[in-house]
Amino acid sequence: MKATAKAHPNIALIKYWGKRDQKFNLPAVGSISITLQEMATVSTVEFQPDLKDDILILNGTKAKQIESKRVSNFLDLIRAEASFDFRAKVNSENNFPTGAGLASSASAFASLAVAGSRAAGLALSKSKLSELARRGSGSAARSIWGGFVEMKIGERSDGSDAVALQLADENYWDVGVVVAITSEKYKNIGSTKAMNDTARTSPFYGQWVFSSQKDLEEMRSAIFSRNFHKVGELSEFSCLKMHAVTLSARPGIIYWNKVTIECIECIRQLRKNNTAVYFTIDAGPQVKALCLSKDKNLVKRTLQKIKGVKNVIINSPGSGAEILNE
Ligand code: DP6
Repeated sequence: MKATAKAHPNIALIKYWGKRDQKFNLPAVGSISITLQEMATVSTVEFQPDLKDDILILNGTKAKQIESKRVSNFLDLIRAEASFDFRAKVNSENNFPTGAGLASSASAFASLAVAGSRAAGLALSKSKLSELARRGSGSAARSIWGGFVEMKIGERSDGSDAVALQLADENYWDVGVVVAITSEKYKNIGSTKAMNDTARTSPFYGQWVFSSQKDLEEMRSAIFSRNFHKVGELSEFSCLKMHAVTLSARPGIIYWNKVTIECIECIRQLRKNNTAVYFTIDAGPQVKALCLSKDKNLVKRTLQKIKGVKNVIINSPGSGAEILNE
């Protein structure tokens, strides 16, 4: 009744922002991501018949109640599927800052889906694992797979077709994702609340949803033809469009700090000087630079020089979530 799994976060090139259903956590738009190899979450789940409550240890310390509750709710789905009611001890560790816009919820819930279902004795397919991970966090559905991944919006009301699938594996393309960390603090508004507030109040939300279909089609074809400039251009477009719709919520939600802007300017300057590099930013102030693998050290050195950049992590395309030991 114990299993350990490892999962990597992913960075969306075409963003997920908005839900069509809260209960099953169904996305209002599809999304496309790259899984990031050098960043990871390792989670162990152990169901114990004599435990009264679930216990969550996050990065070595007892988690806050809000985080424990979210994990307990997630474990309830596994318990229901396995038809038992044992509580669990969960230990989860990230090798990167948690809750700071670095997709820690993606790697956390992907690793919990894999470890939790195995510990409960369930043998789930990758598609079922993706569906389960989505209930924990929408972006986690993508981290079940490695490489380039597409999250389908799905049509069914129970969400059984709102799952991620792999477009190309981690060896398909020698690209790098250089992550510049500009703040290690918890973000002041989580993505779930922020996207719901945006959907409710932004005058541009309908257009965001409507225009996403074309972005997905173009990104898919840019990946399949290995057109790096097109992938990069679309990534910046989807990122800025997501932040624009978020800025237009009431009250407006601002995830960036001044170092975020400096990183954007630096990346665009590198591009003017003929390095193929593009940025994307999730619900937080960190900047992810997408480049060809041969340029990743140059991009790292350049971003590192910016005052206020706390750390820079180089990633290659990562593998899917997996069991570490039984
Ligand atoms: C900006 O997956 O964290 O990173 O489903 O509510 O848990 P919930 O949201 P979450 O949102 C991720 C938003 C994003 C874009 C993306 O990863 O596609």
